[in-house]
Amino acid sequence: TKLDMELAAIEKGGYAHFMLKEIFEQPTAVFDCLRGRLDPKTGSIRMGGIDKHLDLLRDAKRIILVGCGTSWHAGLLAEYVFEELCRIPVEVEYASEFRYRNPVINPGDVIIAISQSGETADTLVALENARKQGAFIFGVVNVVGSSIARLAHAGAYTHAGPEIGVASTKAFTAQLTVLYLIAIKLGYSKNAISQERYLHLINELALIPEKITEVLRSANQVKLLAERYKDARDFLFLGRGYNFPIALEGALKLKEISYIHAEGYPAAEMKHGPIALVEEGLPIVFVATKDGYHEKLVSNAQEIKARKGSVLAVISEQDSVFEEIADATIAVPAADEILAPLLSVVPLQLLAYYTGLAKGLDVDKPRNLAKSVTVE
Ligand code: G6P
Repeated sequence: TKLDMELAAIEKGGYAHFMLKEIFEQPTAVFDCLRGRLDPKTGSIRMGGIDKHLDLLRDAKRIILVGCGTSWHAGLLAEYVFEELCRIPVEVEYASEFRYRNPVINPGDVIIAISQSGETADTLVALENARKQGAFIFGVVNVVGSSIARLAHAGAYTHAGPEIGVASTKAFTAQLTVLYLIAIKLGYSKNAISQERYLHLINELALIPEKITEVLRSANQVKLLAERYKDARDFLFLGRGYNFPIALEGALKLKEISYIHAEGYPAAEMKHGPIALVEEGLPIVFVATKDGYHEKLVSNAQEIKARKGSVLAVISEQDSVFEEIADATIAVPAADEILAPLLSVVPLQLLAYYTGLAKGLDVDKPRNLAKSVTVE
């Protein structure tokens, strides 16, 4: 009815779709997630669920991250971050695999469950099993009071607010924010990072919301790019290190929203298969913000150009080397390489959104997908 339509329009707060609204809410979502926890002035991170179990978490023999879909991608990035900052061995598991295997769970293992809805059936059952085997369960969940939140021994909510679009956007950046907070806090309390690095990361994290606002200013540029490449049959997304999970997430977003076949790969794995697909016009997105891997990505991109693929790249501002090689670039502000994924993912979310839009698809409710998968 007309009333329903008007109500829906009000809910979208002036945006054409929930997905776009939620992408643009990310500066606020990350800010809300940091609020009351991170205090750059005193150099402290306070999180109830962590403080209460600090010894247990700091002395964890192993961390196992469990999730599905986009939440699994947050877990994959957290693996890199926890290993680097906390020096704790980490594994990342698809909940659906973990629940049906016979995983080895030992005393001292901490499971971090990542879920926007807190209701994903595979994640829930995986946790129930692990809990029975004596693991400590820590939930990183968005929906307050959800099944996974209730099952966990402790947790930290992501405070991203309701996410309506089927494709996860702001819940993902909020998950990453919580995971960064935990890793920075544990790493420092374990003496795995220096006070200097600790304070540097805290300050960098506090700057992320305004940097995301800057990234969002490139929305129109991404829209033009989406219109240019919307008829591609395939897309490849490549990244290394902290940006490898972002390459996977960029590919997932694009296939969910635009139905274009897309694959994410660690850039160096390109030579072990995907390079066979490169031909004139194949769009290949490099997630190439300036970090320790940058030179290697430059040479990967040159190999693509030599085979006439189209290189689209998310880069750091003033990266003249990549600007020279690429057919198109989207720049994001400089940030510590560990935190850069919070910025580099945003243009990829926009790319998926505008590609779906250009193809006239239902971006908020893509076919066959559900917001929360509560059955197997
Ligand atoms: C579905 C949603 C995804 C989400 C995944 C895991 O596939 O469409 O956006 O990442 O479930 O959901 P969860 O609520 O557990 O994070």
